[in-house]
Amino acid sequence: MDKIEKLKEIINNSKKIVVFTGAGVSTESGIKDFRGKDGVSKYTDIPIEILISRTYFYEHTEEFYEYYKKCFNCLDKEPNITHYYIKKLEDEGKLLGVITQNVDGLHSKAGCTKVLEIHGTIYKNRCLDCGKEYSAEYVFNSKGVPKCKCGGIIKPDVVLYEEPLPEKAVFEASRLVREADTMIVLGTSLQVMPASSYVTSFNGDNLVIINLDSTPFDGAADLVIHDKLSNVMEKL
Ligand code: OAD
Ligand code: ZN
Repeated sequence: MDKIEKLKEIINNSKKIVVFTGAGVSTESGIKDFRGKDGVSKYTDIPIEILISRTYFYEHTEEFYEYYKKCFNCLDKEPNITHYYIKKLEDEGKLLGVITQNVDGLHSKAGCTKVLEIHGTIYKNRCLDCGKEYSAEYVFNSKGVPKCKCGGIIKPDVVLYEEPLPEKAVFEASRLVREADTMIVLGTSLQVMPASSYVTSFNGDNLVIINLDSTPFDGAADLVIHDKLSNVMEKL
């Protein structure tokens, strides 16, 4: 059977789908991924695991923000066909939830309500001294390091390397993975924890991986499609 036909059959027969997404779902909205062909890791001498780490944030705050503002500013970006397809699954009552590693907020912008942002979001920012909250616009439009009225440094609510993931979202994500009959993995290299642990702990009927490049978990999947997501979504 043709892979798209198989995918359609899996989705038709599924009642509880969990979708797990990475940067690849947003490249067609004009946001660069990290490790793909044109990923941001190709444009920096410093590995992203260091650039967006907690240590780098505190020790090189200015350089951190230079990079952050260049690569994480997606305020003017819009959802694409993949975000809207996931929203359609929600409307059809088939979606348990979407677990995303993305911090761009595009699943919510597409109207999806069951979104678990396990790497945080650019849309929440807080002063490290007094806790006052600031908008993403304030942070991205500030000159240099964004500062609070009190003089404190503002930090985005994006999970940096060396930082723990948001407990509630991670807990809820594990529950969804346990409950799902189908897990669809979209646009992620599956190289960052706990991405891999969700895939290995999934025990439902169908594991589907759709990604341009191969991933270390392709061998464990029931269906693997190596193609551009928009190509696949258009056929669905
Ligand atoms: P990666 O950049 O590691 O992987 C994105 C994957 O998407 C690549 O394997 C691409 O081949 C694929 N891809 C890109 N465009 C695609 C398209 N149009 N159709 C299909 N596939 C496409 O991104 P993630 O796996 O999300 O952390 O990276 C995980 C984490 O690493 C990120 O959340 C980020 C980074 O550290 C934070 O921002 C906190
Ligand atoms: Zn403050």
